Parts: sequence; C-alpha cells; structure tokens
Amino acid sequence: MTLESDHPMEEKLVRIRESLGCPKGKSDCSGCESLTGDCRSMVNFEYNVIELFDLMLRRFSKEEELMHLIDARRGRDSQFESHKESHADMMRQVSELFAVDHPSHLKIKTICNLIDYWLYEHVPTHDVLLQGVGTRI
Ligand SMILES: [Fe+2]
Repeated sequence: MTLESDHPMEEKLVRIRESLGCPKGKSDCSGCESLTGDCRSMVNFEYNVIELFDLMLRRFSKEEELMHLIDARRGRDSQFESHKESHADMMRQVSELFAVDHPSHLKIKTICNLIDYWLYEHVPTHDVLLQGVGTRI
C-alpha cells in the first residue's frame, strides 16, 4: 500500500473553493462580486460542506491506515501524532459547519481557510511524508 498525491481530490477542493466564491487572499466580502452568486445559497453551502466532509473522511482514513501500517512495521511509537491531530482539527472544524442555518461570510471564510490550509500547508508538510512510502500488507 502506498499513498500518492490525489489530483482528483485536489481538483474537487479547488472546485468547492471556487463554488463558494472566496478568492485566495481575500479577507472579507467587501467589493466581492460573488456575494450575489452561489456562496449565498444554503443548498450550495450544504452540498459543499457535505462533499468536503466526505473527502476528508475518505482521504484521512486512507492516510491513517498507512500510518498505522508504517508504525507497525517500524515497531516504535507513532511518528504521526501531529499529522493525526491536524486531521482531527480539520474534521472538527467542518463538523461544526453542519450546525449552520445560513451561510454567513464567517462560515464561508472558515471553509476557504480550511481548504487553503489543507492544500497549501497540510499536504506539503504532512502528507508529503507519506507519499512514496510503501508498506507490505
Ligand atoms: Fe494528511
């Protein structure tokens, strides 16, 4: 079992982010044309939150299974605690979005920040350490 970069997942994350109309680097909605678009739609918001949660669940499960196999093979304490904590924190943040009754700027910003973190910080610092590491199962 190995973990390779997941381009379809990355493309979906970019699409979710674009669908919510929150451009990278934008800190508020002032002057943002997307305010009249899908980012204000509860249906679109819920759809994106569910899709984001599903992507996390599938990807993180695969990664953590690989971490478990690597730890077992090495026979020592886990090297991946901070990686797992990062997964748990991202899952907690997206879980809290299920309780939202309308898509406020703050909640949309939370999703955009979460996707940016996942793609541009988590993947290069944590996931990259799993890529190309094979285990016999
Ligand atoms: Fe990860």
